[in-house]
Amino acid sequence: MENQHKSERKAPLQHLAIIMDGNGRWAKKRSLPRISGHQQGVQAVVQTVDECIKVGIRYLSLFAFSSENWGRPQKEVDALMELLLQFLSSQRQRMLDGGIRLRVIGDRSRLSESVCAAIAVAEAETATGETLTMILALSYGGRDEILRAAKQLAGQAIRGEIDLQEIDNKKFSTYLDTAEIPEPDLLIRTSGERRISNFLLWQTAYAEFYFSEVFWPDFDAAELHKALADYQQRKRRFGLTDDQLDSDIDPQL
Ligand code: FPP
Repeated sequence: MENQHKSERKAPLQHLAIIMDGNGRWAKKRSLPRISGHQQGVQAVVQTVDECIKVGIRYLSLFAFSSENWGRPQKEVDALMELLLQFLSSQRQRMLDGGIRLRVIGDRSRLSESVCAAIAVAEAETATGETLTMILALSYGGRDEILRAAKQLAGQAIRGEIDLQEIDNKKFSTYLDTAEIPEPDLLIRTSGERRISNFLLWQTAYAEFYFSEVFWPDFDAAELHKALADYQQRKRRFGLTDDQLDSDIDPQL
């Protein structure tokens, strides 16, 4: 029988996740308003999506707005929401032509009606895209996502709709916003910071991490390829030993 972990280790990178950090510092360095950094950041998103498609990545998760970002000055929050609306409208045809399926994760109850409506339309229109799934994390926090999933499960358990014995890692994952999306293989964070900042906490349990020194607006195809080349050198062990991974026996974790 094919060893699942052995094959996963050799499998191509399927899901890339990115913490797009450094927009503000990019702008500050140029004496520009912070929003210029975010605007330039959108260009980096567009280029990165194109490059991911070129190299055959199937899932791209982008941390666009965290639960904590609601605490930023209202002007910046409004500008980011406006940028998102512009992005969804300007990229609509590109997503449809390119087979890009949009999926938004996060707590939508905090988003405005107009943003929720635009997301719902974009998700519905792109639902059949098969080339790349672009997962936009908006109003997203990993702990919040896990709590929402736990509350939903607890409610079902109280009502007797689910047996506690049924709840394992696989079952729990289906209650997360990322249900049915494979876990990220590689997480990139730009701007030299080395933190997870509440992004995909559950899903990155076995992800490889890569830290790029460039600010997000400067992230380009060359930077992406550096990260991909580094990833290719990694040996993923999923908590097992080399011998187990090299054998044909399934360790049955
Ligand atoms: C972090 O930089 C970036 C964000 C909080 C927002 C990311 C948003 C974009 C790239 C643009 C919008 C994206 C889409 C897909 C519409 P920062 O502001 O924390 O930078 P700093 O740490 O240098 O201040």
